[in-house]
Amino acid sequence: MLIKLFLYLIIVNFSVSENIREKRQVSLKRREYVWTNKILYYKFNANLPEVSKTSMLKAMQLMTKETCVKFENGQGDGNYVNIMNGNACSSALGKNNGVQTLSFGKYCATTSTAVHELMHALGINHEMCRFDRDDYVTVIESNILEYLKYNFVKLTSSNSYNPVPFEYGSVMMYAPKAFANGSHETIIPKDNDYYYTMGFQLTSFLDYKRLNIAYDCMCKNATITCKNGGYPHPNNCNKCFCPDGFSGQLCGTIDAYQTFASTMVWTTRTIVSKSPQTDYTDYTIITVALTGQADNVVLIQLSEKRLKHQKTIRHSFDFMCKLDIII
Ligand SMILES: *[C@@H]1O[C@H](CO)[C@@H](O)[C@H](O)[C@H]1NC(C)=O
Ligand SMILES: *[C@@H]1O[C@H](CO)[C@@H](O)[C@H](O)[C@H]1NC(C)=O
Repeated sequence: MLIKLFLYLIIVNFSVSENIREKRQVSLKRREYVWTNKILYYKFNANLPEVSKTSMLKAMQLMTKETCVKFENGQGDGNYVNIMNGNACSSALGKNNGVQTLSFGKYCATTSTAVHELMHALGINHEMCRFDRDDYVTVIESNILEYLKYNFVKLTSSNSYNPVPFEYGSVMMYAPKAFANGSHETIIPKDNDYYYTMGFQLTSFLDYKRLNIAYDCMCKNATITCKNGGYPHPNNCNKCFCPDGFSGQLCGTIDAYQTFASTMVWTTRTIVSKSPQTDYTDYTIITVALTGQADNVVLIQLSEKRLKHQKTIRHSFDFMCKLDIII
């Protein structure tokens, strides 16, 4: 038997790295903030730049593909999001009553920032605001710019709920120095391995899952059993929605970019990077499979080499080891 061990190497393009994102303190626990019939109505304000529209439409397309949430251009029953050109990349949280604003100027225009803001509009808060955040990060209040401190306010279990586990790599998570007054960290991960990947803005498997749970998208009558943490896909209950690194109807297939066999002595391996998919999400995920005997203990030491690709691209890594997968 073999153990497959997965290494997720995430190459990040931080072309828009220090966005101002604001939100209001409301939460999905109050059903009035959830959009009726799972449809978010929106209108593009006349002042919205073309690039912003393009990013928004791409984000909507991605979110529609992976969840049961729909976006419709129009005013609906009068509750709708006015997507406009503004100084900040920001959104009201959840459905408010009447017309609400989502500010999405030219410098916000990446697909991942669009997903982040639409998640807010749907009612999803920042990851570092979760009521369990102190188990995972240390928020250093004194280093945060005074007028942006409200972005870090911790929620409570009575005004919010967490349908999925805390995730450093969530699209709703900020980078360590976000909104710093000076050059010191505002959020320090308790597990330092996540320092470089916090705030990397990739929409994760769990981000889609939290939306699918919050909007009651999960298949109720599915007859399949998904493997490796997958779940029946809300848009096709006969096929599983698989975590990164897995594919196939039941998530039983491994999608490795590179496969390495484990050895009895320390061996150096090189993980070859790919270019970020700038036309899609701005990011690239590399999944590396490591094969070994089922009863072997596998030790990995990662040495990160910062790659100089373009000035606008910063590289970092994230990794996740699954030792319990036997194929
Ligand atoms: C930044 O820090 C300085 C020194 O502690 C403080 O006087 C100032 O008010 C802070 N500025 C903001 C915007 O938080
Ligand atoms: C589950 O039920 C819905 C409607 O009740 C139906 O459209 C769908 O095809 C069913 N899915 C499966 C996998 O049976």
